[in-house]
Amino acid sequence: MIVEERMVSFIRSLEQENTPILEEIESEALKDKVPIIRKEMQSFLKVLLLIKKPARILEVGTAVGFSAILMSEYMPKGCIIDTIEKYEKRIPIARENFRRAGKEDCISLLKGDALEIMRSLSGPYDFIFMDAAKAQYISYFPEAVRLLGKGGVLLSDNVLQDGDIIESRFAVERRNRTIHSRMREYLYTLKHDERLETSIVPIGDGAALSIKK
Ligand SMILES: C[S@@+](CC[C@H](N)C(=O)[O-])C[C@H]1O[C@@H](n2cnc3c(N)ncnc32)[C@H](O)[C@@H]1O
Repeated sequence: MIVEERMVSFIRSLEQENTPILEEIESEALKDKVPIIRKEMQSFLKVLLLIKKPARILEVGTAVGFSAILMSEYMPKGCIIDTIEKYEKRIPIARENFRRAGKEDCISLLKGDALEIMRSLSGPYDFIFMDAAKAQYISYFPEAVRLLGKGGVLLSDNVLQDGDIIESRFAVERRNRTIHSRMREYLYTLKHDERLETSIVPIGDGAALSIKK
């Protein structure tokens, strides 16, 4: 946890419930140990979507569709979401959740490897939510920038690696070292690419919020 636990509990105590379908899908996902966005990221995403009012959203990492359905409730009418997932087991669950939520018309599930699918897509997207394999963010980066329109927003979740990101490579567990170095490279790239303006926000497990200039 990158923010003091008491602070997180306090902030969470102020949160309002989501719609009944989101509450159901969230508790099913937590029961089945499916990783989904935390409460703090849910609020952050809602506010960003209400500010940005995107017409097209791309999500990298659907899992069982929780965040896609949440985004669909806060995007403008007529907006569409393309969301990418490669894990066979999760795809039918996500599809069923989109049906349960009545969102089949506005959410398209793109099945396969994120990088391959991103390469096949055409922009512009107004909002990209990056929430897949953390070690791959740096590989998705050129495609994400290509797919974003001018003024488009890229929100990358879980960028502070539960606090490990500030540790030296050797203080990080061996199995997390690849993610550690690739995430550092990703954050450096986001902050130094002249096409973007980026703010790294210590919320949830860390978010990077970028806009294409
Ligand atoms: C953190 S979960 C997404 C959670 C979801 N955004 C939510 O909050 O409801 C990340 C998902 O990305 C998927 N994923 C990881 N690597 C991927 C890849 N290369 N291509 C497509 N999906 C991938 C995983 O299978 C996993 O379901």
